[in-house]
Amino acid sequence: MNQGLTEWNVPNRIVFGSGAADEIGSYIEQFDAEQALIVTDEGVREADVLDPVLESIEAAGKEYTIFDGVQPDPTDTVVHEAADAYDDADADLVLGIGGGSSLDTAKAASIVVANGGRILDFKGSGNVPKSPPPSIYVPTTSGTGSEVGHWCIVKDSETNIKEEIGDVKLLADLALIDPNLTASAPPPVKAATGMDVLTHAIEAYVSIKAQSQTSAIALDSIEKVGENLTRAVEYRNGDLTALTAMARASMQAGMAFNGAGLGAVHALSHQVGGQFGVPHGLVNAILLPYVMEYNLPQVPEKFCNIAAALGESIDYDRRTQLEAHKAVRAVRELGDSVRIPVTLDATAAERDAIPQLAEQALDDGSLTGNPRITDQDDMEWILNRAFDGTFEYESRL
Ligand SMILES: [Fe+2]
Repeated sequence: MNQGLTEWNVPNRIVFGSGAADEIGSYIEQFDAEQALIVTDEGVREADVLDPVLESIEAAGKEYTIFDGVQPDPTDTVVHEAADAYDDADADLVLGIGGGSSLDTAKAASIVVANGGRILDFKGSGNVPKSPPPSIYVPTTSGTGSEVGHWCIVKDSETNIKEEIGDVKLLADLALIDPNLTASAPPPVKAATGMDVLTHAIEAYVSIKAQSQTSAIALDSIEKVGENLTRAVEYRNGDLTALTAMARASMQAGMAFNGAGLGAVHALSHQVGGQFGVPHGLVNAILLPYVMEYNLPQVPEKFCNIAAALGESIDYDRRTQLEAHKAVRAVRELGDSVRIPVTLDATAAERDAIPQLAEQALDDGSLTGNPRITDQDDMEWILNRAFDGTFEYESRL
């Protein structure tokens, strides 16, 4: 593509609000579909999160089959199981409901049912020939924003590398976001997925591919996460205000990075997650402040704006690197408040793997948005710091 052109894709239809899940049956009717394949995981099924969805489908006189075999970091194997379930059920609509793993599995399976072949043959951008069947994506965590994006991540079961598959044909026909469905996630999941939202928003905001409209919603998303994450994690019966704000922040961050791309946090976290099984949100949450310190000299003004969105007072006459470090401190404090560990040592990741992780990260598609050019030494520097727990701002602010 001409380097001067930008592209931004969002779903045609986004329905947002408490109680939206009760309306799913009527939307399935609008798609003229009769048999939905519900793609989800056992945890969602057992937590009764599906109940309002199933009741709504039944009330509309439609049929459904449930595939609940989704695993975290879905592999090509799981994707093909879901595609087989679609064919076996003679389905005509894909309804993905769950966290990012469920939505990505649903998206990837929809490619296979429309095109045949092996899912990893479609990796990269724009390699999906035939449009998938009608799709409805319903998140049950405020995290990946996958419901509004045209990307899915599938782990190669042979190499353990997370491959990206993106095509505008993968946009949901309907993204349906009901904050009520996010209420039952355990606090550590809410914390990690919420920090993933913050990572999306910050990486999209500082991306070299940022566009004014993606930056506007990214900054608003950052502010919402700063104001609401702690309360959302501590959620107790009744007050949905913080969960609703987090659900909107997740959607906004997802829309932002679908145009602006991501950066070095995701490029590295895909490797750490793929190799050691560390949950995506958790590894992003740990890596985010270290990558921010690395990127900060390149775009100090943007980091000053991030700091301000997170409630720090900024001297706008200076907007120096020193002021910009307040953004790193604010992210660290937010992570602390929801019990995110400081170093990768607290996870299953192993320090010996740093050279290999760094090398693989340089090939990750997410890196193309990063504002500072990186090489092998830079990636290793970031990872070493993330194992050591070393921050520059602590001696400077
Ligand atoms: Fe993410």
